[in-house]
This record gives sequence, structure tokens and C-alpha cells, in this order.
Amino acid sequence: MIKNRYEGKFIVFEGLDGSGKSTQAGLLAKKMNKNSIKSHKTFEPTQYLIGGLIRSFLANDWKSSPDCLQLLFAADRAYHLEKEIFPALKKRINVVCDRYFFSSFAYGALDCDLDWLIKANDNFLLPDLTIILKSDPDICMKRMAKERFSVELFEKVGKLQKVWENYLRLVERFKSEADIRVINGDRPVPEIFEEVEKIIAGKKIDGWKL
Ligand code: ADP
Ligand code: TYD
Repeated sequence: MIKNRYEGKFIVFEGLDGSGKSTQAGLLAKKMNKNSIKSHKTFEPTQYLIGGLIRSFLANDWKSSPDCLQLLFAADRAYHLEKEIFPALKKRINVVCDRYFFSSFAYGALDCDLDWLIKANDNFLLPDLTIILKSDPDICMKRMAKERFSVELFEKVGKLQKVWENYLRLVERFKSEADIRVINGDRPVPEIFEEVEKIIAGKKIDGWKL
């Protein structure tokens, strides 16, 4: 995996569906902008063409193998890096991303070979920081039920429990090369964000104030 040599930091939020990633990513981008620190919030699967193919797969509009799905995620990521992430980092803009390759590893490993998945993502940029929100699968399902009309491919308690176990294995596997923090996501939003802010303070981003 490639180390970030740009001044802009690449910060990723990970966790189960409904764990609050998008909420915390949004708060962080907003806080950065308030402190006059340039930031760009983004997410995977993207809003581009390949991201659309993925969303329709997840919604059961078409079918293929789990390997095909995870290769689409990797292709979507390659395009995301080229079109959005690298251009922002080059302009010293911090990128805050909701999901990245640890999602491919944690979800993909339910049905695909983990080493193969890691190889398929090997040429991609390593995040400067990955924050994983630890949230109970039952709580995640309840949060999602409030705002969804249909259930997507991975959105079942049993599957989410296994995905969580995969996240924990990934923390062990990548702890020597990546900065990964696991924080408790089953707290009120402001309390979680306070912890996020403290972690960011340790990353020495110019202009960051608590
Ligand atoms: P994700 O991006 O991980 O799927 P979201 O940030 O979209 O999760 O949150 C899913 C739902 O749960 C949203 O309705 C959001 O407002 C709510 N939510 C997010 N964080 C919390 C929290 N800490 N406590 C209670 N509800 C939350
Ligand atoms: P998303 O729509 O971001 O889910 P949520 O907002 O509910 O967290 O992600 C779509 C699903 O795709 C999610 O269940 C996780 C899965 N996924 C993978 O399997 N591999 C990947 O590389 C990524 C980015 C997501």
C-alpha cells in the first residue's frame, strides 16, 4: 500500500452499516471548515458510474459472484482515488472518507479470500488515520430501520456480527503499518465526536483547535 506524501491528510471512518460513520465524517469535515482547515468529505461506494453499479447490486437489481462485487469496489476505489482523493490531497485539502479498503476486507472476507482482496487493493493509498466505530449490530439495525425502506445485501445481524469480527482481525493484521483506532460508537453523537476531535488533535493538522 502507498504512503501519503501530500500535506493533506487522508482520514477514513469505518464500521458496520448504521454505526454512525457518515454522521461523524460530516461533523469532522464541518469542524475543519469552521477552523479554516480545508476539507473534503467523500464516501464509498462513490456516486460515479461504478458506484452506481455497486448500489444496484446491493439492492438486488442484478446478480454476479462475491468476487465480481469486490472487484467492482476496487475499481470504484481506483477511480475515486484518481478523480477525487489524490487531486484534493495535492491541493492540501484534507480528505474525510466514509468507508475505504478496510470495508472491502471486512465485508468481502465473508465470501472471498482475504489475501486475494488485500492484493487487489495493494496499489492504493494507505489512510493517515482510520477510525473504526464499534457499534452493536442490533443497534445498527435499529438505526437503519428508522430510515430505510429495504434491506441491502449485508444488512442482517448475523452477517454484521461476522463483519465486526473481521474488522477486529484487520486491526491486528494492519496495526504495524496503519494508524487505526477503534472507538465506542454506542454513545450519543457529541460524545463520540469529542473522542474523534482528540484523536485528530494528535495528528498535527495545521490550524486544528479543539
Ligand atoms: P452509517 O454512515 O455508518 O451508515 P449514519 O451516520 O448514516 O451511519 O447513521 C445512521 C442513523 O443513525 C442516522 O439516522 C443517524 O442520525 C443515526 N445515528 C448516528 N450516530 C448515532 C448515535 N451515536 N446515536 C444514535 N443515533 C445515531
Ligand atoms: P454504504 O452504502 O456506505 O453502507 P452504510 O451507509 O449503510 O454504511 O455501503 C454499502 C455496503 O457495501 C455496506 O454494506 C458495506 C459494503 N462494502 C463492501 O462490501 N466492500 C467495500 O469495499 C465497501 C466500500 C463497502
